[in-house]
Amino acid sequence: MAADPVLARTISIEDVAVIRHLETAFEEESKNTASCRAYASCADDEGFHGIASLFRAVARAEQIHAANHARVLRAMSGPAAAQVALPHVETSLQNLRTALADQRFEVDYLYPTFLTAAVPLIDSTAIRTFHWALEADKSHVRLFWEVMPRIGEDKAGWAYTPHHFFVCALCGYVAQNPESENCPSCNYLWERFETVQ
Ligand SMILES: [Fe+2]
Ligand SMILES: [Fe+2]
Repeated sequence: MAADPVLARTISIEDVAVIRHLETAFEEESKNTASCRAYASCADDEGFHGIASLFRAVARAEQIHAANHARVLRAMSGPAAAQVALPHVETSLQNLRTALADQRFEVDYLYPTFLTAAVPLIDSTAIRTFHWALEADKSHVRLFWEVMPRIGEDKAGWAYTPHHFFVCALCGYVAQNPESENCPSCNYLWERFETVQ
């Protein structure tokens, strides 16, 4: 069948690659949203309510990443869709290790690769959504890394008590305490951050 003359004129090879990357990133973030929600339930069941709070905050952040990617995808090609398998849940310590590995994969490989491929595009919205997700995911890596040793503390410790986390509603940056007037990742006003417990 002959190529659609309109599409042939308006979608470049670079566009096609970035659309595939947006689809992959949307699927990855949707998968992480489901995993972190399941890990939060598991942590609550095990009495680790502080760890559960962190998982819920990161789940919300990953949902924001997926929604940002979906918005760009819609403008470039069409609605986003992802097949998300049932999350594999283990102990909270193992879930923390898995969640940390997932975030590091996004920070070390996925988004740097996708950002490089998106640079030639005239429209910068794909670059922005990848950049925001990359910077926010670095905050998730930091938090998972920091809390992992606390799981071994006694029952009065941090891991057992629910905590508030601040989640940037624009880029998904997560922090336990207010850090400045604006999001360090996307510059959004801190007062508009969501609080998740
Ligand atoms: Fe993410
Ligand atoms: Fe932000």
